[in-house]
Amino acid sequence: MSEKPWGGRFSEETSKFLEEFSESVSFDKVLAPYEIKASIEYAKALKKAGVLSENECEIIINGLKDLEKEISEGKFVFKTEYEDVHMNIERALFEKIGDVAYKLHTGRSRNEQVVTDLRLYLIDKVSKLKKGLKNLLLATIEKAEEYFGIIMPGFTHLQHAQPVLFSHWLMAYFFMFKNHFHRLEDYEKRLKECPLGSSAFAGCGFPIDRHELAKALGFEKPIANSVFAVSTRDFLLELLFVLSLIMLDLSRWCEEVVVWSSQEFSFVELPDSLCTGSSIMPQKKNPDPAELIRGKSSVAVGNLNRLMLLVKALPLSYNRDLQEDKPPVFEALKDTINSVKMMVLLVQGIKLKTENIEKWISAGYLLATEVADYLVLKGIPFRKAHHITGEIVLYAEKNRKRLEELTIEEFKSFAKEIEEDIYEWLKPEHAISRRELFGGTGFNSVKKQINTAKEFINGLEL
Ligand code: ARG
Repeated sequence: MSEKPWGGRFSEETSKFLEEFSESVSFDKVLAPYEIKASIEYAKALKKAGVLSENECEIIINGLKDLEKEISEGKFVFKTEYEDVHMNIERALFEKIGDVAYKLHTGRSRNEQVVTDLRLYLIDKVSKLKKGLKNLLLATIEKAEEYFGIIMPGFTHLQHAQPVLFSHWLMAYFFMFKNHFHRLEDYEKRLKECPLGSSAFAGCGFPIDRHELAKALGFEKPIANSVFAVSTRDFLLELLFVLSLIMLDLSRWCEEVVVWSSQEFSFVELPDSLCTGSSIMPQKKNPDPAELIRGKSSVAVGNLNRLMLLVKALPLSYNRDLQEDKPPVFEALKDTINSVKMMVLLVQGIKLKTENIEKWISAGYLLATEVADYLVLKGIPFRKAHHITGEIVLYAEKNRKRLEELTIEEFKSFAKEIEEDIYEWLKPEHAISRRELFGGTGFNSVKKQINTAKEFINGLEL
């Protein structure tokens, strides 16, 4: 038998450069444990279909298990000349058990092997990512509880807008990442469909039981169409889209960490263990992890685009272009899993500089909306109330006064309806407690959010 599995049809040696150019084993070797797992179950399916004898099946499975051990101990040598992980393992099995090894490939194609291995690999990675997200959700809840009651200026356009509980602001991230968690759960339903038995694309030529095979490998069911099974890369595109969403939201969060830890804001302090210094400026303490996460968000988004371009206008079924699908997925997954882990440390380690935050509560005109709402309750239509309040703010600004420093006479000169109780409305706590509606920043409302969040986490089976 020739060196190459397809050698029978060929009369010339493969070009050395083509071997290097076309190899994928340098990156698909991470699929080796899944290739073994799938091969063991495939051997059993072939035995049940009457293709392998009891004895042949046992020899093949024992050989595969030996290889599995070598791989896990790092002793297996992957060779470029055997192109990819599938042929490396097939070859090694032949060297171990002889000709019977080649019976394993009966009715089987690398086109289905590669997507079966990839799906099995992703099932593990997605479960790891979900655990990471759970840790992040937990860290977020803990921080929201640690600083419960702290009022900060909320922003729109990065301008001071209205007072808000810090915990409320932070819990926004909880709900962002809870959605990502659910997206992964939903994605898993489609991921857990098994291509094996599809062969090159037309379906296996031997009567293997695909339902049993799918179950044995931990899938929910076999994919219903063999051409679709080997052609689709929707399961990679969908994952990369979710990874992109995760990374984009992390980048927004990290941007806040960077801005809030700047001298100008000085809202938060990061622990020394999560910062690095400058090689020239001795005073520097830089929020590098947050900046790196922000930077790494380009990888998921960029690689999603790479994959979209890879499948654009690609005819069915398998085309070798598809070999290029793996590096972008592996890279984006690694970066996302690590970024989530890093974010957990950041959230846990961050400290609020509460004195600095509180300073801003009365400095801007954060409570202007409260004055307008107050006037509404006195019967003035909101648009008019908004206008009057605008005039009050302009007057206060000109006279370098805070709203609560204006005298009642000054207030009355703008609207006679204003009475002494306006000063109660100019306390930030009052503004917070007027928002106890579902999902608002009221003290009890945020407490409820935190409690529901905890129930969600406790109910997770991970
Ligand atoms: N290494 C290939 C890949 O990653 C496996 C499938 C090869 N199939 C083929 N017909 N050449 O896509």
